[in-house]
Amino acid sequence: PPLIVTIDGVAASGKSSVSSGVARALGVPYLSSGLLYRAATLLGLEAGADLSEAAVLEALHTHPVRLEPLAQGNRVWQGERDLTADLHSTAVDHGVSVVAVLPGVREWVNAQLREVAPPFVAEGRDMGTAVFPQAPAKFYLTASPRVRAGRRAQERPEDVDAIEAALIRRDELDRVQSAPAPDAVVIDTGPLDLAGVIGAILERVVA
Ligand code: CDP
Repeated sequence: PPLIVTIDGVAASGKSSVSSGVARALGVPYLSSGLLYRAATLLGLEAGADLSEAAVLEALHTHPVRLEPLAQGNRVWQGERDLTADLHSTAVDHGVSVVAVLPGVREWVNAQLREVAPPFVAEGRDMGTAVFPQAPAKFYLTASPRVRAGRRAQERPEDVDAIEAALIRRDELDRVQSAPAPDAVVIDTGPLDLAGVIGAILERVVA
């Protein structure tokens, strides 16, 4: 069967950059499930509602959203509107874990991902467990909260302590859907640079 590689891991463990690099090396697309959770959150926030399941699903139904799995970075579209630049705001960072536990939202994300024909690299929390349990190559990225906060501080306006506190809170809220698959290779990215993590994955993927 066509190859599926899953790359799961905790918040800010480097999943997107690693997945993009692995996908480019293999010449396949990658799918960022987190961007779909972020888009659901953005629409919920824009609806001005309480981020209840009914409100978020209503927003997704009224304004359908689709993932464009570009190799250099996924984009998310709502009709002609490109949502991508708005998906990494502090407001979305803070709301997304609340939205991601809603069963209807998880079904919406998973259905979109399962429509894509492999081969691809799929990135998120539960790609190797709930969504693509049949994948032959599974990875799970970790790093200490401090290391992760230091990396994310390069991309966010807040200071590193606030970012670290928010990451620890998100780890806790995301814990249920973030368990590594029993057959995943766990990689501590702390001591590795981006090329090192990509290399560690590629040497284990038999394409
Ligand atoms: O890069 P980072 O981990 O900060 O974010 P992300 O991968 O874009 O995921 C954002 C949020 O979406 C996570 O904190 C989870 O709440 C949720 N998520 C999830 O529940 N399941 C996934 N497969 C992917 C993301």
